[in-house]
Amino acid sequence: MTVRKRAAVPGPARPAPPEPNPTPKPEDQPIAGAKWGVIVGCWLAIAVPYIYAILYHYKIEWELKKSILINAVVSLLGFVLTLALIPVASKYVLRRNLFGYDINKKGTPQGSVKVPESLGIVVGIVFLVSAILFQFANIPADSNWLVEYNAALASICFMILLGFVDDVLDIPWRVKLLLPSVAALPLLMAYAGHTTIIIPKPLVQYFGENIDLGWIYKLYMGLLAVFCTNAINIHAGINGLEVGQTVVIACAILAHNIMQIGGSKDPEYQQAHAFSIYLVQPLIATSLALFSFNWNPSSVFVGDTFTYFAGMTMAVVGILGHFSETLLIFFTPQVLNFLASLPQLAGIIYCPRHRLPRFDPQSGLLTGTKDGTLVNIFLRLFGRRSERSLCILLLVFQGICCCFCFYLRYILTGWYK
Ligand code: UD1
Ligand code: MG
Repeated sequence: MTVRKRAAVPGPARPAPPEPNPTPKPEDQPIAGAKWGVIVGCWLAIAVPYIYAILYHYKIEWELKKSILINAVVSLLGFVLTLALIPVASKYVLRRNLFGYDINKKGTPQGSVKVPESLGIVVGIVFLVSAILFQFANIPADSNWLVEYNAALASICFMILLGFVDDVLDIPWRVKLLLPSVAALPLLMAYAGHTTIIIPKPLVQYFGENIDLGWIYKLYMGLLAVFCTNAINIHAGINGLEVGQTVVIACAILAHNIMQIGGSKDPEYQQAHAFSIYLVQPLIATSLALFSFNWNPSSVFVGDTFTYFAGMTMAVVGILGHFSETLLIFFTPQVLNFLASLPQLAGIIYCPRHRLPRFDPQSGLLTGTKDGTLVNIFLRLFGRRSERSLCILLLVFQGICCCFCFYLRYILTGWYK
């Protein structure tokens, strides 16, 4: 074997000659781009009613409106950044063997493609950057809200970390269930709001006008965080569902906050809802960027990083804005999915690693299995269908539940509370 000697004269290193016909590794090939139809459609559906409500319909005090709009602009920049970073991050996660196979395409060429996993990490990081930049630019250092806002960010940040750890290490199911209760602790410790609940009018004669629940209320909020994070994670497994449900619920939360601000004159109450908006706008914007890659056929998977992050953010937003009951009604499909899942989660019935429908590669249609999930129940109720049409059906159902919640609030106002 000949050993090539070093050049005797030191000089600038010559670039290595290019390899003849280098074949790019599969992980270095670019992923399919964002789906622009999804982006344009979603933005139109969200931005038109939003601009109308905030600029014309509701008379919101200028200072508050300015803060909300600055936050909207920061969120928009967050959207662009997420859109640009997802293809870059996809290459890096593939190089580290963080990928999954699309189970609902098994038996077709698409079923053997390595789909990059855990792209929720990009959404989570850009979300945090947007929230921190907004705080830096717009929240005064002596604001009463800063402690709660920072605690909320700490809880969300911790949940992103735990979600990513789960994606990398595949934590056992029972441990997963408990993680959010630890992540929610910073927010619960900093929570300065009331722990008193207003008793519904029909029950006032038995319990009085309100009851101070004290630590029980904080326990309830902790359980809410555990529920929201896991509920999003187990209502999943078909392209676009994890992010789609997040976007629909987050839009309903945004609408609820704007309606409450517009209909109130109490500055404290308005501030509570404004702080909820400051977190939910970046959530919608960054999630939409991920949605455009995760829509069927998915070029990336969101991972537990995203489901935990999104669930925790929405729980935090509901807690800070004091509307956890409304939030739970927005979560109706997730509550139904959780109830249907209970026998398997509790171990009474065998729970496989994936509780997904059966895919027929010939027809390209999904059939519901006996596993207790809303996805399977919908397939059994409405018949076999394609993954995309099933996802649309489930997202429409999510939207109907949110609209029903607004209707319920409308008819119960004055009678219930
Ligand atoms: C939860 C569900 C599990 C479901 C899984 C799908 C429970 C108790 N667990 O588990 O039943 O199968 O989510 O996310 O209800 N995948 C697809 N298509 C998609 C999204 C995901 O095929 O659109 C597959 C991919 O192989 C991906 C994997 O699911 O790699 C991700 O699963 P993971 O999020 O780790 O599952 P869990 O959250 O543990
Ligand atoms: Mg998951």
